[in-house]
Amino acid sequence: MRKLYLIGIGAGNPEYITVQAIKALNVVDVFFFMDKGEAKQDLVTLRKEICERYVENRSYRVVEVDDPVRDPTISDYTTRVELWHRQRALVYEEMVAKELEEDQCGAFLVWGDPSLYDSTLRIIEHITARGRLCFEFEVIPGITSIQALAARHKITLNGIGESIVITTGRQLSAGLSGAAARTIVMLDGQCSFNNVLDEELDIFWGAYLGMGEEILLSGKLSEIASRIEEVRHERRQRNGWIMDTYLLSKPSEAG
Ligand SMILES: C[S@@+](CC[C@H](N)C(=O)[O-])C[C@H]1O[C@@H](n2cnc3c(N)ncnc32)[C@H](O)[C@@H]1O
Repeated sequence: MRKLYLIGIGAGNPEYITVQAIKALNVVDVFFFMDKGEAKQDLVTLRKEICERYVENRSYRVVEVDDPVRDPTISDYTTRVELWHRQRALVYEEMVAKELEEDQCGAFLVWGDPSLYDSTLRIIEHITARGRLCFEFEVIPGITSIQALAARHKITLNGIGESIVITTGRQLSAGLSGAAARTIVMLDGQCSFNNVLDEELDIFWGAYLGMGEEILLSGKLSEIASRIEEVRHERRQRNGWIMDTYLLSKPSEAG
């Protein structure tokens, strides 16, 4: 039976890869690269580097496919994304059926970890539910951008016995991140921290974590928000893309 691996490759540094991931990489016949968006070429390059560096004495193929784009005419966000996942499931299903022999292993190299703001698992579920393609699959965990952020700033994410919220820039702007003392924000193209300029809050911000371009900034949010915005804008212009993550925290509740 065909087998698919969803391998978490870590969020940027090729050395974030785990031993379990390296073992999985070494049984793969076909790697499927499905990157999209502004960072596409750089992410493809990193995936290629990972294959070249860690796969030993084994021939493999790389299949690159353009991901379908979301339909901008659908106004409801959840509906738009769900429809997009279904479209992608059809593309993935056709690609796996065409490119992978019955007894071969394929892999999707997932940025960071497949459990965190990534749709590959949902797409696999859609394909399984359609019931037209028979395969087994396995998930190999990876180091998320959140772990990279914490390690690079040398911080714990939670205060003692406290909760943390993981959310998106969109939710933060809408005031939906809840009342936790610490909030991690991802997928924020709009510098949404500007909407929560509470005097008490500290920010631990990281962009291109684990990569050569890595930038770390931390301090009182009200004092460094405009500096982060400036640096973010400048680096995005220079590189054509940026990925950043940050922790907002009330210092009095630090642990
Ligand atoms: C689609 S999500 C994927 C998250 C990924 N699965 C993970 O485990 O980190 C992309 C978001 O993750 C964050 N991110 C991923 N890699 C990053 C990096 N190297 N540095 C900073 N943020 C990163 C950013 O917030 C970005 O908008």
